[in-house]
Order: sequence, then structure tokens, then C-alpha cells
Amino acid sequence: MTPRLNINIDHVATVRQARRAPEPSVLAAAMLCEQAGADGITVHLRGDRRHIQTEDLYTLKRAVTTYLNVEMATTDEMLRIALDVRPDAVTLVPETPHEVTTEGGLDVVANSDLVRRSVESLREGGQFVSLFVDPDARQIEASREAGADQIELCTAAYAEATLGARAVRAEGQRRAEEELRRLRQAATLATQQGLHVAAGHGLTYRNVGALASVAEIAEYNIGHNVIAHAIFTGLADAVREMRRRITEGQP
Ligand code: PXP
Repeated sequence: MTPRLNINIDHVATVRQARRAPEPSVLAAAMLCEQAGADGITVHLRGDRRHIQTEDLYTLKRAVTTYLNVEMATTDEMLRIALDVRPDAVTLVPETPHEVTTEGGLDVVANSDLVRRSVESLREGGQFVSLFVDPDARQIEASREAGADQIELCTAAYAEATLGARAVRAEGQRRAEEELRRLRQAATLATQQGLHVAAGHGLTYRNVGALASVAEIAEYNIGHNVIAHAIFTGLADAVREMRRRITEGQP
């Protein structure tokens, strides 16, 4: 089955917040992504509100007709908002105040009590819960024990290995292949454990095709590279092109 593609539109809000202006509209971006064939919209409500604002979630919830996935930290404030907005999925991610972007997966093993309580409270509220984790067997088993419905595999290390000059050197290629193997093994394990499998972070038009050969990955969450491309091509073409790359990479 063709995997789902959710477009992360955080960076439309980044441009808006740079001027605290009404434009560009996050709502218009979501509608364009859907019209161009995206299967869903993903946004990350950060504690510091550097891009998406709480109000955006309510606006998107009213307008998005495909699928709305909200990423957030495991804080009381965020859980309260999630249970009020009620998106289609909540993805729990780690968050530190000064990071440029999410730096890796949630350490479900080290924070098992907090994660379990957060998952429980979201699931009691009827939410589908995904945990963003590194491709590591212990994290996947801990995610299942915490009661998650899905894991989203952090593809940052794979993406890093495919970047720029590093990617063309033999060492970079070896690392990318190794990371791809880890992701494949993790996706297989998660499926065996009864978890749905998503993937995301740092994925680009260049590196998504190889990853799309992992049949267990049923959902991609891709943001920065699509929005960067959209500056030159427009959002609809940028979404369609990412969809094409994923389809071409299918096993
Ligand atoms: N998935 C998760 C859990 C994320 O935190 C992010 C970044 O917000 C993404 C996917 C999208 O990453 P990128 O913008 O690098 O495509």
C-alpha cells in the first residue's frame, strides 16, 4: 500500500512569526497541501511558540479534512491542549528550549513513567498516540509497553549521512546504508509488536526514495525540505514532487 504523506507546515508559521504578520496563512498552506494530494497535515506546537500558535491548532482542526497530526512535548500544558483540540493523532516528541529543531527521539526507556502516564491520559481522551523514537529495539519495546498506537522513527541520523559532500564520500554512503538497515530492522520489529510505523525528520527529495523501500513505513512526516522547495516551485508542486519520490521508491 502507498504510504501516507503528511506535510509538516511549521515553517509557513516560521515565516509568519518572523514579522508577527497575518501572512503567510497556515490555513491556506494546509488547504493547498490537501488539494495537491497530501494525506495529512502535521504541526509541532512548541512550548516557546516559535512557529505554530495554539490558535492555529483550532483553526486547522476546523478546516483540515484529511488528517491532523500534532507533535508536542509531554507537558501538562500540551496534554491539556491536545485533549481540547482533539486532532486525529498526537505525536509525543522530546523538546529542549534552545534546540534549532527536534534533536532525536523521545527516550521512552528513561522516562517510562511519564510517557506511560501521558499516553494513558491521551488514549483515555480517545486520541491516537504516536511516539517519536530512535530506531532502537529498546525504545520500540518501551513504546509498546507504554501503550502507544504508533511509533514514528527518527530519521535524523540517516538524513545526516545523506547530506552534502559527506553523502558522496564512501564513508557517508556506508553510514547511510547502515542507518537504513537500522531503520528497516526497527520498522520490522515495531510491526511485529503490533505498532503502526511512521518516519520523519530531515527527509529530502534526494534521500526519501531509498527509505521508501522499507515497506513497513506507512506514514511520512516531512516539512522543511518541502517548504524550502515550495519557495521556488509553489507548494502544490512541492507536495506532488515529494509524493512522486516516495512512490518511485516503493518496493
Ligand atoms: N517528525 C517529527 C516528529 C518532527 O519533530 C519533525 C520536525 O518538526 C518532522 C517529522 C519533520 O522534520 P523535517 O522538517 O526535517 O522534515
